[in-house]
Order: sequence, then structure tokens, then C-alpha cells
Amino acid sequence: MKDFSSDRANKFTESVIRDMTRVCLKHQGVNLAQGFPDFPASDGIKEAAVRAIRSDFNQYAITWGTPSLRQAIAEKFAWYNGVTMDPEQEITVCCGSTEAMIASLMAIVNPGEEVIVFEPFYENYGPDTILCGAKPRFITLHEPDWHFDEEELSRTFNNKTKAIIINTPNNPTGKVFSRDELQFIADLCLKWGVLAVTDEIYEHILYDGAKHISIASLPGMKDQTITINSISKTYSLTGWRVGWAIAAQHLTASIRKVHDFLTVGAPHPLQEAAAAALRIDRSFYETLAREYRERRDFLLSALEDSGFHTYRPGGAYYIMTDVEHFGFQDDVKFAFYLVEKIGVATVPGSSFYHDPARGARHVRFAYPKREETLAEVERRLTRLASRVTR
Ligand SMILES: Cc1ncc(COP(=O)(O)O)c(C=O)c1O
Repeated sequence: MKDFSSDRANKFTESVIRDMTRVCLKHQGVNLAQGFPDFPASDGIKEAAVRAIRSDFNQYAITWGTPSLRQAIAEKFAWYNGVTMDPEQEITVCCGSTEAMIASLMAIVNPGEEVIVFEPFYENYGPDTILCGAKPRFITLHEPDWHFDEEELSRTFNNKTKAIIINTPNNPTGKVFSRDELQFIADLCLKWGVLAVTDEIYEHILYDGAKHISIASLPGMKDQTITINSISKTYSLTGWRVGWAIAAQHLTASIRKVHDFLTVGAPHPLQEAAAAALRIDRSFYETLAREYRERRDFLLSALEDSGFHTYRPGGAYYIMTDVEHFGFQDDVKFAFYLVEKIGVATVPGSSFYHDPARGARHVRFAYPKREETLAEVERRLTRLASRVTR
């Protein structure tokens, strides 16, 4: 039969992360593959959604987002990230940060232009660059602290560079970019006239005194940054699909056009409830970070007790591990062994690298899970310690 699929679609595969979720269901595993919580969201936020539906926020919202949410985003961006933006002209509400990222890239990148991506990267950025016709240029984050080589980064910027994608706190490494690192990137962006596109959806999940810095807050960067965020991770609402892009007016005008024709808008009642979420008492964020630290510490010690080499995350909710010494051929074989025989789903490290061989030593565990779920993982992993003798 004739192959109707486009060259574009043929250039990438289905999401490995979401595929692992399906494999996990088949084997009744515990899902530490995909990063979504198995605990409920706050009652107050859920009530706000119910109220919004009862109040008949049932039709299309304004394409770029309901005014109450854009206002709440602007207020929160001012107090937490230190940047003042105009909710009328500089914020676009999208269907999750996923849409905010692709809409932003499609709005700014011409085919053939280069986009710099730190590697390992959140797997969407690969297809995102392909869908907008960009040429991705990868910059390695080096273990164990996931630093980048300043020389290498400087050499990679050139006249064709349009944007650099930053994700801090970072998925999958847990790296939190320091002010100095971000200043180094900002200086290059300013020198070369390059946009920073920064995905900050884990901005409140920070450990051991780490501080979140938004590159938009650095001198000169407000007009050269697109900041992407969503309610998915901070408020444990990954299924609501509400996110946003914050950018100077001239950029926002383009993002809004692309967004309008991609999706028209995010669900209206859930946008109203998202506005309530963003205005939640500030103590919420301290509790969030503390509870994630407890989960991180629990899983780190369970993994180390079962023989994994771990990289301690400074933020976000993932642990990258080194599994080379378990003696499997590669990360995919090991991840399938883990889900099929041990009953724990993870993501093979290769899905975070453009060259699978570079991730072949790693698997990633996600821990936005209840205490009892993580305790069950610990129990299951003891089988690994006794069965893998290689
Ligand atoms: C770095 C990063 N960006 C974006 C997303 C997707 O976010 P959203 O649910 O807002 O589309 C994820 C989800 O895991 C992520 O880890």
C-alpha cells in the first residue's frame, strides 16, 4: 500500500516515554516512566474547576487565554521570577507547555535555521525541532554534575543560530542551571541575537537550597526570551492541558497566530481554575518542594540499595541512573527486563539523546508518586538485587 505519511512524520518515532506507560499497563508494573503524579490535586483547585463549569465557562475562551489566567500568570511571574510582563500583549495560554513550545518554535524558526539543545534532553524537543524545520545542534551535559563545556557552546553559536532551548530544573538530569551558567548563555544570546526558549515547568521543585533563576530576568534578556510553563507539574494537573508562553510583544504576536490555528485555545473552565491555582497560598510551594525531597531521598536510597549508580537531582522529579554494570546489552533491554520481570517501568536513557548509543548506560526513574507506590517499588527492586548476579 502507498505510504501516505509525510517525510516530516517519518523523521521521528512515537514517544518512548508514553510507549513505556502502555508496556507497563500490559505487565501490571508500577509506572515510574512517565512523569505524572498518582496522588490527587488540591481540593481548592478542583473546586474552582467545578465552579467554572457550573458558571458556564463552556465556550471558547479568548484565543490567547482567559483574562483572569493571563493576569494571574503575570502576577506570579513578577513575584516568583522577577519579571514584569503585560498580560494583554505578552502572554499566550496554550494546551500545556507542550503546545507552548511547538507554537513558539514554529513562530520563530525558519527551515534550516539552527536551534541549540542541551543533551540529554526532554524527548519532545527532538520532534519539536524537526516539526519546525530547524537543524538541531546538541550540546552535551556532562555527568556527574551535568555541566556544559563553555568552549563548545561558544563555538556552536553562529549566524544561523535562531534559538537555544533551556530546561531548568532539568528533565531528565535534575540539573538546576546556576546564575553563572545562565549568564554565560545570556551573553552568547545577546552577542549573536539569539532567542532563549526556556521550559521552566519544574521551577518550584528544588532541593538542597537550589534557587530557580529565569533567564528572562537577566539584564537585556526580557525581550529575547520565551518562557514556557504550565500547571501540569507544580499543581499535579498534567491532564488539564493548560500551559503558556511569556514573551515580548513582537514575539507573542507570532506565537498567538500559530497557537490560534493549532488549537484555538485551552479548555476554558480549566483556564479559570488555573487562575485560582496560581493564586494559591505561597506556603503551597514550600510543602511541594519538601514532599518531593522526601520522595527523592526515599527513591535514591532504594535504588542505591538495589545496585544502581544514581545521579542526585537538584530539582525536578526524575533520577537518572547508570546501569552499565548490570551487564545488559543496552538501556532498552534493561528497561524491558525491569518492567517485564521486576514490574517497574522506567525510561531507557537513549530516548534523551539524538544518538541512542550515548544514552545506552542510563535509565530514568520518575517519582511523582505516593509513599506506598514508592515503597512497592522498593519491594520489587529487591528482586532485582537477588536475580541479577552479572
Ligand atoms: C521538561 C518538560 N517540558 C514539558 C513537559 C510537558 O508538559 P505539559 O504537560 O505542560 O505539556 C514535560 C512533561 O514531562 C517535561 O518534563
